[in-house]
Amino acid sequence: MDRIIRPARNVLGAVQLPGDKSISHRYAMLGAIAEGRTTIRGFSSAADCESTLGCLRQLGVAIHREGSEVQIEGAGLGGLRAPQPMLDAGNSGSTMRMLSGILAGQPFVTRITGDDSLQRRPMDRIMEPLRQMGAEIAARDGRYAPLEIRGGRLRAIRYRPPVASAQVKTAVLLAGLFAEGETVVEEEIRTRDHTELALVEFGADIRMESNGIRVRGGRVLRGGQFRVPGDLSSAAFFLVGALLFPGSNLLLHNVGLNPTRARLLDFLSSQGADVRVSNLESARGELIGDLHVTGGQVKGGSIGADLVPALIDELPVLSVLGAHSERGLSISGAQELRVKESDRIAAVAENLRRMGARVEERPDGLEIPGRQRLAGATIDSCGDHRIAMAFSIAALAAEGESRIEGAEAAQVSFPEFYDILDSITE
Ligand code: S3P
Repeated sequence: MDRIIRPARNVLGAVQLPGDKSISHRYAMLGAIAEGRTTIRGFSSAADCESTLGCLRQLGVAIHREGSEVQIEGAGLGGLRAPQPMLDAGNSGSTMRMLSGILAGQPFVTRITGDDSLQRRPMDRIMEPLRQMGAEIAARDGRYAPLEIRGGRLRAIRYRPPVASAQVKTAVLLAGLFAEGETVVEEEIRTRDHTELALVEFGADIRMESNGIRVRGGRVLRGGQFRVPGDLSSAAFFLVGALLFPGSNLLLHNVGLNPTRARLLDFLSSQGADVRVSNLESARGELIGDLHVTGGQVKGGSIGADLVPALIDELPVLSVLGAHSERGLSISGAQELRVKESDRIAAVAENLRRMGARVEERPDGLEIPGRQRLAGATIDSCGDHRIAMAFSIAALAAEGESRIEGAEAAQVSFPEFYDILDSITE
């Protein structure tokens, strides 16, 4: 489906964002292996999270969903059953990688696959530690889905992921729930910690220490009531949209502000953006607040390897902002972007060029000069939700209209995106 985006003059209004995708996946997976019922309010509307629920149902978990409220009857650590025929994670890397940690601890064989994009993404990064723990995993060409996971008795390991990835960390910690002994994950660069916070709330035997996250297997998890904050990575599109116009004034309610994600706000503020937080509260260890942003040009600067994991999903839309900034944006140490739902370095460079911008593509990043006026163009979403949305935002500030090809990809993380965009642009 193509979508036409016309230039806007301002971004104005108030927005209620749907629930955070990362947190929704985790609450659902932990609810499934906990004892008792878990009720999740504000569950993400993303197709990716529906993929997680679909896989859990196939594993024998009773799940009832009404809109954004999800009820899960926990099967307990030992209550999942062998799925028939094959689990389908759709487009969702989080579903495949994180769920594999749970599947590694099951006394049965599971096959799991995904769509074309997911079948091109590397899975060896979770296969390696899960094999060390005792699971047998076969994959196409040794690293791609479909995966065949032969789970069983696991042993605890100490693991230092070679890539900064919250999905890898989570796969190991979830497998650690089934392992004998204490599993330790050490991170060189800290990634989002939603799994650790959720594990504490579900009653796992977990400790977060300076030299690693430690989880002991065998402890029964307890279900409960959870509320998912709005998705900051979805909010990022509108934050950037607002910053592109001096007259913008936008309020975003109920946004997740977990410090491992909210470095986006520090980054924007350091660029001179006026983004204010109010009504800060905490729910189940997750910070939540309202964001108020007014328009105005940002300075530009650089994002290096140490900051990349904290901003990984926001880099496409920050690239758009970079082209409008005073000094431009330099991104390095971001080779992980090449193995996301699309090669996001290539996709950003190609689409910026289509809009008439100058940009230099590097193996691990992008050099984007500032003060560029973009022209309306036909955008190739590459079937990637974040590319479709980032360039819909770019199109707001372009001269002439743009056509976003494959705009339906937004459903993967943010089905409400275009309705909200229409309601806040004038
Ligand atoms: C996620 C972690 C990140 C991110 C993805 C969601 C998560 O992936 O890009 O959208 O929920 O843990 P990596 O762990 O591969 O960096």
